[in-house]
Amino acid sequence: MRLFEPTGIMSRRLSMAMLFVLSLVLALAPRTAVVEAVVVDGLQVGYYNLSCPEAEQVVRDVVDAEVAMNRSIAPGLIRIFFHDCFITGCDASILLDETPAGDVPEKESSANGFTLVGLRTIDVAKTTLEAMCPRTVSCSDILAFAARDAAVAAGLPSYEVGGGRRDGVHSRMDDLPGNFPVPGHTVPRLTELFASRGLSQEDLVTLSGAHSIGGAHCFMFSNRIYGFSKTSEVDPSLDPAFAERLRKLCPRPKPDDNPQESRKVPFDERTSEKLDNVYYQELLEKRSLLTSDNTLALDPKTRPIVERYAKDDALFQKKFGEAMQKVSALDVLLRPDQGQIRRDCHVVNKARGQHFPIIRWPRPPRHPMQQMLNWFIRGFQQD
Ligand code: HEM
Ligand SMILES: *[C@@H]1O[C@H](CO)[C@@H](O)[C@H](O)[C@H]1NC(C)=O
Ligand SMILES: *[C@@H]1O[C@H](CO)[C@@H](O)[C@H](O)[C@H]1NC(C)=O
Repeated sequence: MRLFEPTGIMSRRLSMAMLFVLSLVLALAPRTAVVEAVVVDGLQVGYYNLSCPEAEQVVRDVVDAEVAMNRSIAPGLIRIFFHDCFITGCDASILLDETPAGDVPEKESSANGFTLVGLRTIDVAKTTLEAMCPRTVSCSDILAFAARDAAVAAGLPSYEVGGGRRDGVHSRMDDLPGNFPVPGHTVPRLTELFASRGLSQEDLVTLSGAHSIGGAHCFMFSNRIYGFSKTSEVDPSLDPAFAERLRKLCPRPKPDDNPQESRKVPFDERTSEKLDNVYYQELLEKRSLLTSDNTLALDPKTRPIVERYAKDDALFQKKFGEAMQKVSALDVLLRPDQGQIRRDCHVVNKARGQHFPIIRWPRPPRHPMQQMLNWFIRGFQQD
């Protein structure tokens, strides 16, 4: 079984073949392809100064209250935000349960689904703000503020987040395959994917520092601790004692296991609730969960950045805030004709008496263990 992207000529041939298949799929598909994201200016700090002066404070209070009840909300919110912005920009498309076009939404993707944490927090903030300033504060702005407040709750110095995003009306699970990073990816592919979003290789290393908090389900990295290769049961680039501990925590996955019952392991067990540079120190000690984390310390292009952050927490924290600002501007919708202020973050607004041809998919896609392993380790393969 090929667990990693092959390298060299083989890889180029494969990716040519994949490109060909992809262009065929795109040519045959009646829908438009994902538009490559660009960093858009035009967001304004203090956007709600006049229309809803308490907006940012309300989001911060809600996030603080929720994080105080459950620390795992903070990493959850940062991840939802990244997943939203990386696919079709920061338009809150990840929050939609259904769309007018009847597409299966992003939320249902294996990359999201039950692994999203903190969705309820966004609802609480939205409900509060709708009561205070009806139809004024977009779900995408709430998510951008909430991700910042979550980072601050986890110890990051605060940074400014502009407002003025409008909410999108499209959301498609099928936009993810081929456009989204998975744990099995290594630096060259990750760099390509980030570049397609206007994010640099340094941004890749910096933003991966989000894995300083939160954790991953065992099946996301089980390929590194069981049957890694023909010659080695365990990934030789893992600290053997660490690998042994992971094997104790995570039994070998079986095809009929329920992924939702898989254990979640902290990325950085030394300071698992603090958004700090210990993640990079652990990478250099060969204690990482995902191949996509480990590769940052192995690849000669990214290793120097990892080494710099491992030595300098203040530098990492400053760069992380700046990179999050970059993410928060990806492909934002600014004009009224581009998007709306959703009343309910789960659904697109409907005018009174208006009916969308909402086509419900037969049933939500199921994500059995084998499919999760295929998607996450080898990259997305649609079923
Ligand atoms: C570089 C490519 C990346 C890959 C392949 C990746 C993949 C993953 C995976 C597989 C998980 C575990 C999810 C679970 O088991 O529930 C995870 C968690 C997480 N990711 Fe990433 N990620 C990447 C980049 C990022 C970026 C850029 C951010 C944000 C700036 C981010 C934020 C997070 C956070 C905060 C968690 C913890 C979530 C939680 O504990 O609920 N990740 N990521
Ligand atoms: C909102 O107020 C802050 C603080 O007074 C100011 O820095 C910012 O420029 C204002 N923004 C807008 C859009 O009015
Ligand atoms: C905190 O939230 C996570 C994710 O939703 C959940 O799995 C966990 O059980 C919660 N912890 C507590 C103590 O409620």
